[in-house]
Amino acid sequence: MVKILCGIFGCISEDVLEKILDGLKRLEYRGYDSVGIAIIDNNKIIIRKDKGKISEFIKNLDLNNIKSNIGIGHTRWATHGAPSKENAHPHMDCSGRIAIVHNGVLENFLQIREELIKKGHRFSSKTDSEVIAHLIEDFINNGLSLKEAIRNTFKILKGSIACAIISTIEPDKIICYRRESPLVIGISSKGVFCASDIPALLPYTRNIAIIPDDKIVILEKNKVQAEDINGEICKLEYNEVTWNLEQAEKSGYPHFMIKEIFEQPRAISDTLKIPLIYIDRAIEYLENKNKRIYLTGSGTSYHACLFGSYLASHLLSMDIRPVISSEFTEILSSLENSTVIAISQSGETADTLNAIRYAKSKGAKIIGITNTLGSSITNLSDVYICTQSGPEIGVAATKTFLTQLISITLLFLRYGLKKGKISEVDYSKLMSEINRIPKIIEEILKKSDIIKNIALKYSSKQNAYFLARGINLVTALEGALKLKEISYIHAEGYPAGESKHGPIALIEPGFLCIFIAPKDNTREKIIGNIMEMKARGAEIFSIITEGDEEIKEISDEYFEVPHIHYILYPILCTVPLQLFAYYVAVFRGLDPDKPRNLAKSVTVP
Ligand code: F6R
Repeated sequence: MVKILCGIFGCISEDVLEKILDGLKRLEYRGYDSVGIAIIDNNKIIIRKDKGKISEFIKNLDLNNIKSNIGIGHTRWATHGAPSKENAHPHMDCSGRIAIVHNGVLENFLQIREELIKKGHRFSSKTDSEVIAHLIEDFINNGLSLKEAIRNTFKILKGSIACAIISTIEPDKIICYRRESPLVIGISSKGVFCASDIPALLPYTRNIAIIPDDKIVILEKNKVQAEDINGEICKLEYNEVTWNLEQAEKSGYPHFMIKEIFEQPRAISDTLKIPLIYIDRAIEYLENKNKRIYLTGSGTSYHACLFGSYLASHLLSMDIRPVISSEFTEILSSLENSTVIAISQSGETADTLNAIRYAKSKGAKIIGITNTLGSSITNLSDVYICTQSGPEIGVAATKTFLTQLISITLLFLRYGLKKGKISEVDYSKLMSEINRIPKIIEEILKKSDIIKNIALKYSSKQNAYFLARGINLVTALEGALKLKEISYIHAEGYPAGESKHGPIALIEPGFLCIFIAPKDNTREKIIGNIMEMKARGAEIFSIITEGDEEIKEISDEYFEVPHIHYILYPILCTVPLQLFAYYVAVFRGLDPDKPRNLAKSVTVP
């Protein structure tokens, strides 16, 4: 699984500072909000870090006369703690003997941080990562060696981790550890290197090893040694990388969009690790009696709002209204005693920010759901939840959409549990269904060739309807938006029941109708809608639950997803439609990463 949140680069070599800065520049494409480096000079760790771009950071760097041959660097994409100098990596322990950089999400850091504070540790940031340096220090204070302390630290810490550590205790080493987040190493006559991704290593070596999960790798001059978490020596497998720089940035995928689609299992796993305290803080704003709750967002994020609205009705028996942000001020007048849940991956969409400002001016409270910590939405919201997708570079939203759906599900499920609207048993059942999603999506992605063939068959169509009932209307709308924005095919998402009130007039032989028809309580009616379209010569492509022979029979093409609780089907069924849009665009000779007339962040109203 690929993980992009932050960039790590470390090396033991000549001209370490230049190499670290160059390595970080080569990781810039991943997106970041702050930069930092730590080097060892005269047995002292020197740290420089700041919010902002690498070019600015270099301009202000005051380390001209330092000649170090060991160091680590980091570009940060904020997930815990806003972008700021304090929160930028590297982080140090209290004694100044240990510096760490980390990429990933630590699940149990809050509890460990509290225990360490009780023991006298002083923290200088609001990040989850800083706890790593202090925990290592704590073990060392209790008599363990540096390596033993590092092993114990990673045995205790839960979550996704790629980490590089330097210490004045063993000043000739960089110690790396990896679990779920990527970390690669390379060795050549130019030095020994570690990095989050291959592009950063290409100027020095093409002989690269991926650190296996749960392994520690010790880098020394001209030497690399891998151990398991108990200190047993193990082997690293080196491979010759033949990618050019552009291919390497996309981890070998031809486009960012497909890379990001394949990152979804990881993005969801990390979003599922959001500490409950963040969810509980948001719930406080939902709890007042007689409160009205609204959801607002634009484009794909509006579809996440619609999902939230169906979820609230089905799970909580609550009517929560979704409102498209650009219409918010036109349709809502009195917002006193209300809470608005505003969803925006970028956190900078002008329409959504206008809706928030308007709602605030009328006395509403705001819960933000965003992928971009430090964005305007995090500043304007009373409380926010940060989805853990990592930066999304393709213009079409993919992984950020699925993590929005996961976040809103976590929020409403927990709210339902607290309010007694969902029993403990139902909560646990649903949570175990949700926890299966990353694995299920991995399985769906393994079948991407099926979608590729269907996309080839339909790539020259001029029109498509995406039809569904109930909560899968969300999937239909999102599938149509994806197809239209990157393939320029005219595509419309409709409630299937509504199709006979007008849209059916367009159906003639060969018109493409895509049905989202998993096994839920709308299935019988959907079969009726399929037959109506089929009778008029439409070509039918259905997304169905595995083994649904009846719908297979009446469809020209189908794609099967595993069975899951019905309210979670939009999360699964969106994936084949993202793949469909992507492959259709590619077959039409278009660049899916850069659709015409669209920008990643729409900052004009
Ligand atoms: C569709 C897409 C757009 C965005 C919309 C809102 O693929 O990317 O529809 O969803 O512009 O953007 P955010 O979520 O950044 O507010």
